[in-house]
Amino acid sequence: MSRYSLPAAPVAVPAATPSPVAVPADPDRAWQQRSLRAVWHPCTQMRRAEALPPLPIARGAGPWLYDHGGRRYFDAISSWWTNLFGHADARLNAAIIDQLGRLPHVMLAGCTHAPAIELAERLSALTGGALGHAFYASDGASAVEIALKMSAHCWRNHGRPEKREFVCVRHGYHGETLGALAVTDVAVFRDAYDPLLMRAHLVASPDARQARPGEDASTPARRAAAELRALFAERAGRIAALIIEPLVQCAGGMAMHDPVYLREVRRLCDEFEVHLIADEIAVGCGRSGSFFAFEQAAGGEGADALPAAQAWPDLLCLSKGITGGTLPLSLVLSRDAIYEAFLDDDVARGFLHSHSYTGNPLACRAALAVLDRFTEDQVLAANRERAAALSAALEPLRGDARIEHLRRCGMIWAFDVREAVLPARFAERFHLAGRAHELLIRPIGRSVYLMPPYAFDTADAHWLAERVSATLDNVLSSTSSADADRTPEPPTA
Ligand SMILES: Cc1ncc(COP(=O)(O)O)c(C=O)c1O
Repeated sequence: MSRYSLPAAPVAVPAATPSPVAVPADPDRAWQQRSLRAVWHPCTQMRRAEALPPLPIARGAGPWLYDHGGRRYFDAISSWWTNLFGHADARLNAAIIDQLGRLPHVMLAGCTHAPAIELAERLSALTGGALGHAFYASDGASAVEIALKMSAHCWRNHGRPEKREFVCVRHGYHGETLGALAVTDVAVFRDAYDPLLMRAHLVASPDARQARPGEDASTPARRAAAELRALFAERAGRIAALIIEPLVQCAGGMAMHDPVYLREVRRLCDEFEVHLIADEIAVGCGRSGSFFAFEQAAGGEGADALPAAQAWPDLLCLSKGITGGTLPLSLVLSRDAIYEAFLDDDVARGFLHSHSYTGNPLACRAALAVLDRFTEDQVLAANRERAAALSAALEPLRGDARIEHLRRCGMIWAFDVREAVLPARFAERFHLAGRAHELLIRPIGRSVYLMPPYAFDTADAHWLAERVSATLDNVLSSTSSADADRTPEPPTA
């Protein structure tokens, strides 16, 4: 038995394999100490890690994660928005195990394999064929790099090398590699590296919270689009692409916007010959209520109407949920016109980008199993019921004077704690208090959000809402805004 085997679980917890090895008095503390000695944790000020030690997770089942002592935590944020159907899902695991016995990996340059082919075909079919090819990578940020490079290289191949600037949206987030960070507007992640980054144009966010009295969510969306039009009118000859997070700017604080923004930017990009990159790394795979968030661009009335066939971006980045939270995989879906711009006898006009594990068969099989689930279990319809249950359970919060902007898009819920009652280090305190209430939850700044796996019923929804409320009560009653230092904390997702 390996040293990663689980100790015997206490009675209240579903059975784990008993371990013949000696179990330390507090196995979780022991793992924490070893982790802090050896692991450099992501998105973490390691000096704070003693006060906020990592939660040692021994196993997962459904929406629950279990530590080594058998305590459970509801994964209210789907482990950084990756998990779809709960942890250790039997059907996803079976697909991966089957693939493991056939072909764990083979390079995708000069070779190909059924999982990569079938996944590309099926994803393209989900766009009605509008996005005809899939280019694979492993992490979200890599997909963003690929989309940016593809766009600029495409214009270069068209004989327009001057079109190489990018436009991004205020408070947008696209990942932490240098290219992705250059189109990200979250200061705490970006500032230290700013001198290393290419310059990008920053345009207004369509965030619905900016609506003034008497306005609805479409007004800030149209205002943001008008600002974009002005930039394009002046500069489109040098702009390669606009990159957006459709419907929800997640890491920027779950800022949600009206779908009219998607229609407006689609039209503007067509009018001014600018590629539209949809970063659906967080909002894809059903999070927004539709499989792709961009599906919601279709519709509108009169002059605003956009037919479904035209309502697609030019490049679409997908990652996180595509493997249901099992394995790293990302991909960029592209329109055929972009793909064809790279076809030439000259090798250098091809898209030569690569990663060693590009199109990994295990990850692609997991993704195929995810797509199977969407059809077999009618996931989008079932999620509408889950969403109604959780929204109803959270409704009492709407009257809570301590919070504002209770909002939802698909399977994402958020509210903001008012500045007036906000204690220092709110997100950290909320996260820690959440642990005591059996929640894994990590607010972003003052925005508390829920992005749970699609694996809860009405009773779970009420339990979850009640625990979030209780956590809020604990944090706001045990602290005052003046009781601690005001050191900014990362708006960690
Ligand atoms: C919209 C968006 N784009 C890109 C990324 C980066 O993905 P990864 O962390 O896998 O590099 C994220 C991660 O949260 C994201 O939310």
